[in-house]
Amino acid sequence: MSISKIYWGGKYYPVPYENGLAGEGFAAGKALSIQAMPDMDCSRFYVNIAKWCSGIALHFNPRFDEKCVVRNSHIDGKWGKEERQGAFPLKAGVIFDLEIKNELNAFQILIDGEEFCSYTHRLEPCELCTIQISGDVDILDIQLQ
Ligand code: GAL
Repeated sequence: MSISKIYWGGKYYPVPYENGLAGEGFAAGKALSIQAMPDMDCSRFYVNIAKWCSGIALHFNPRFDEKCVVRNSHIDGKWGKEERQGAFPLKAGVIFDLEIKNELNAFQILIDGEEFCSYTHRLEPCELCTIQISGDVDILDIQLQ
């Protein structure tokens, strides 16, 4: 027997996942919490925080095939300079907590409650209204607080 899908708290998040955020969206001062598990044969996945019509403010892209977590923005139709510093904290098949805080100057990114990195805003951190998750990952929970 093999388990191919995980149900958590009665809610199931299909991947690719895309959610438009109602109201003020992912406003400054808010935090996005995601609990997820990379597939056993995970190559890559990403979490994007996108703006209405004007690009991806944060592309958070763990790459098991390169053992690094790429962060970037997609503005005016093109990718910017990648940020790749830091350890590779994820393991295939192991559940992790990702927290992204939208602060005044930067996104603060925590993994399993520990500071992972800071990503200085390249787009105004307002009108962040879409979350996209895709790739080799299962999502267990998503909260915006
Ligand atoms: C590209 C890749 C994109 C995105 C980007 C980030 O090479 O095709 O999906 O991850 O890097 O810089």
